[in-house]
Amino acid sequence: MARILITSALPYINGVKHLGNLAGSMLPADVYARFQRLRGHEVLSICATDEHGTPAELAAAAAGQDVRTYCDEQHEIQKDLGERYGLAWDHFGRTSSAANAELTQHFAEVLEAKGLIEEVTEQQVFSIDDDRFLPDRYVEGTCPNCGFEKARGDQCDNCSKLLDPIDLIDPYSAVSGSKNLEVRDTRHLRLKQTVVEERLREWVNASTDWPPLAKSIANKWLDEGLRDRTITRDLKWGVPVTKDGKPREGFENKVFYVWFDAPIGYISATREWAEKTGEDWQRWWRTDKGADDVSYVQFMGKDNVAFHTVSFPATLLGSEEPWKTVDKLKAFNWLNWYGGKFSTSNKRGVFMDQALELLPADYWRWYLTAYAPEGADAQFTWEHFQGAINTDLANVLGNMVNRVLKFATSRFDGVVPDGGEPGEHEAWLAGEVDARLKAIAEHYDVMDFRKAAAETRALWAAGNEYLTRAEPWSHFKTDKDKAAVGVRTGINLIALSAIVAQPVIPTAAKTILDAIGVPDENRTWPTGKGADLLDALPRGLAFTVPDVLFAKVDDDRVAEWTERFGGAD
Ligand code: MF3
Ligand code: ZN
Repeated sequence: MARILITSALPYINGVKHLGNLAGSMLPADVYARFQRLRGHEVLSICATDEHGTPAELAAAAAGQDVRTYCDEQHEIQKDLGERYGLAWDHFGRTSSAANAELTQHFAEVLEAKGLIEEVTEQQVFSIDDDRFLPDRYVEGTCPNCGFEKARGDQCDNCSKLLDPIDLIDPYSAVSGSKNLEVRDTRHLRLKQTVVEERLREWVNASTDWPPLAKSIANKWLDEGLRDRTITRDLKWGVPVTKDGKPREGFENKVFYVWFDAPIGYISATREWAEKTGEDWQRWWRTDKGADDVSYVQFMGKDNVAFHTVSFPATLLGSEEPWKTVDKLKAFNWLNWYGGKFSTSNKRGVFMDQALELLPADYWRWYLTAYAPEGADAQFTWEHFQGAINTDLANVLGNMVNRVLKFATSRFDGVVPDGGEPGEHEAWLAGEVDARLKAIAEHYDVMDFRKAAAETRALWAAGNEYLTRAEPWSHFKTDKDKAAVGVRTGINLIALSAIVAQPVIPTAAKTILDAIGVPDENRTWPTGKGADLLDALPRGLAFTVPDVLFAKVDDDRVAEWTERFGGAD
């Protein structure tokens, strides 16, 4: 049994997330966590809202709320939505917690003591009309790298390059639109990433377990050379800057940069979880307290990779304290909306709350896992979604379940039938089960979600193929034993199909397993030979037939949704 720590990039507090956000971090983290729990591993799954910085302040201002009230409300909304999607976090914390402030200040003080932080005078964009500095997203303008006209001060949404606000061409205030800006001096703390560059490079090179996308992005950053970056901002909302535990002189109106405190939130959320449950957080995070046995896996969109392979590790390694660092880092490409982007600011695409108004969570979980933006960007279209749901869930899985259980109800009194011996068709299916189970587990282990889902579907499809070969319905009158073997094998295959589907479609899987009456302790990841697994249910076990598991999505609904969400505009 291994111990596995799983974190998903912390969703920004600034409003409900779209399906692309869900697909690129929170959902795969949950699918992976569920799979590893099924295998019997000890899993800790941590997430939180990322609440500081300009995105929060700007969103609160737009909502006409003070930022604390805004964050309180939005945190509850995101937590509730996550739970409705079945995201089985052990803890969903907040980076605005007291624990996170304390730990962030701790890291800054330790890094300063190690000579990795210096106080510098920086030039910052100041808005005369707004009478304030405009850090990060408070200023927008043209990207000096790609020419995109609505680049934010901290990062270009178009080319992903990290920016310095003063580099923007034709800048304007995101608060007022004013172009009456000037550059002024301001004191800040700077993290000397260049000092830890070699340590980081060694650490990245030693990280053999990272999937290719993460590794290539990390190396690209290191090859371009790191820059020392300021980790404080002229803002009110955030973690206050301290020295020796007291407010730091000259920094009374400043806070730490959101990207400095956000990943520290992984640790502080674990601490909060430990307080809540009486567990020991250090077992998961301190290598001197047992965390060297932990396998730490992070999930995130590709725009987050630099922060997790360079900035956050610079904090952890730079402290020279025994912190656990990431072992496997799974990055995702973009899920696009009809060739364009999902966009929170332009309300383009489908958002997590809206999607649940249309269909239950499992439909989305399946689609976003089986067609995840994994090897490349993926496209969401209603037609593609419809095809996937109707084929994979309604036809392949749903039909098999209903066909077999209905027939067994009418002909075998609603119990798993006794009688007959397995023959060539059963041997063929047993071989399929062996191959598919092995493949699914291997794909999950290396976090190939599309392949894991494809193999899961292949197991369901093998069930249908088996029924076509074995034809229990046509043998019923002439050879009842033969029909009994077919039905018994079919019901066992349905149970197996549901067991391995639990990571992706937990609700439907539970419905099936409850209907068949599989006890909880037998819902763990199947081990053993296919032939035995296909005869595992006790003969005579009474089952019920679940209602339609997955309704087909018809053309009318696609038309309605295209109209409502404006598909390809
Ligand atoms: N909020 C960031 C985003 O949505 C992710 C933060 S990940 C963290 O891109 F680890 F830094 F919190
Ligand atoms: Zn750009």
